[in-house]
Amino acid sequence: MTELRVGVIGGGQLARMMTPPSINLGLTLRVLAESEGSSASLATATVGDYNRPEVVLEFAKTVDVITFDHEHVPLEILEKLEESGVSVQPPSRALRFAQNKLEMRQRLAELGLPMPEWAKITEPSQLADFIYEHGGVAILKTPIGGYDGKGVRVVREAAAANDWFQNLADFGGALLVEEKVDFVRELAQLSARRPSGEFKAWPLVETIQANGVCSVVKSPAPNASASVMSATEDIARTIAIGLGVTGVMAVELFEARDGRILINELAMRPHNSGHFSIEGSITSQFEQHLRAVLDLPLGDTAPTAEHAVMVNLLGVDSENDFLPSYGIAMEEFPGAKIHTYGKGARAGRKMGHVTATSSDASSALATAEGAAAVLLRG
Ligand SMILES: Nc1ncnc2c1ncn2[C@@H]1O[C@H](COP(=O)(O)OP(=O)(O)OP(=O)(O)O)[C@@H](O)[C@H]1O
Ligand SMILES: [Mg+2]
Repeated sequence: MTELRVGVIGGGQLARMMTPPSINLGLTLRVLAESEGSSASLATATVGDYNRPEVVLEFAKTVDVITFDHEHVPLEILEKLEESGVSVQPPSRALRFAQNKLEMRQRLAELGLPMPEWAKITEPSQLADFIYEHGGVAILKTPIGGYDGKGVRVVREAAAANDWFQNLADFGGALLVEEKVDFVRELAQLSARRPSGEFKAWPLVETIQANGVCSVVKSPAPNASASVMSATEDIARTIAIGLGVTGVMAVELFEARDGRILINELAMRPHNSGHFSIEGSITSQFEQHLRAVLDLPLGDTAPTAEHAVMVNLLGVDSENDFLPSYGIAMEEFPGAKIHTYGKGARAGRKMGHVTATSSDASSALATAEGAAAVLLRG
């Protein structure tokens, strides 16, 4: 009997949420996890260090395609895999732009895509000049290693980044500075592309962050015009083709007060902005990712309801435990779809999410937020 085997590097919640569609489709999902008891340990998990080439190469021998739960696998390792004939999706030549925000800005500029003003800097004096030229404030980012807002700072004086300048080597030798966009909201455009070229996008969504971490996603983005929605789909298509991206990709965007749509950053994997698609779309981002990396035809991305709202369960403290509140949450909000990730509790950590769909946007929001509040109360 034929077998199709997908290997995911990283044992987080994204790998975990690939499990149900892999079971439905009869695929074999294997995970290379950082540790025992990872969020994705429901799948066949091997524990090993993704920074060690021999570990990743051994793991790759057990699957037909390698893909990712996170973007941190060193490029040299992925290039080695590709040289030895392993299918890596997205390929290293695309993933490099998701690993390094400076390379991403450079490449998107070559493609003529709309972005905040930005510069590559290596000296505090360059930061001081940029701040001066941009109204006394800027956003400073470490090009590599950031996530959930770590590695992003609002700066009003160059001295506020001395620690980063002193450790430039850790960030690839330079920092990324950007204009602080006066945005009315943040948006995300989710899409998928197969190695053989097929491309599909989901409707544009609005993302709301709390302390730099995604907290609520509304699909579709409220009051987004048809022209904005087709423009963001075009942006995603241009990026996917231009960078050679395969699998699911999320493009994080700003809607500026002056109406401009600007690209913030890219993720080349299923993304928090797409969790709504598990219930809110005919094909979820997790199923689509599996189909795409195996170069199978992509599924329909049409919505299953007029509105879907996803609310993250962000850890409050180390005592967080959702199961005791399941009874109340489920009784009060039978329409809420609860997802928990089996992760140890920590303040601010993404521990799970709740999605609600409805023909009415405010009732979807009320259901998802209501259930999340009950679960977080413990
Ligand atoms: N140029 C900018 N102007 C205004 N706000 C910004 C800018 N860049 C980033 N931000 C804010 O900081 C948040 C985090 O930035 P970014 O997405 O680059 O970091 P990250 O840590 O890689 O993110 P993620 O949470 O997606 O892992 C953004 O969602 C946005 O709210
Ligand atoms: Mg981001």
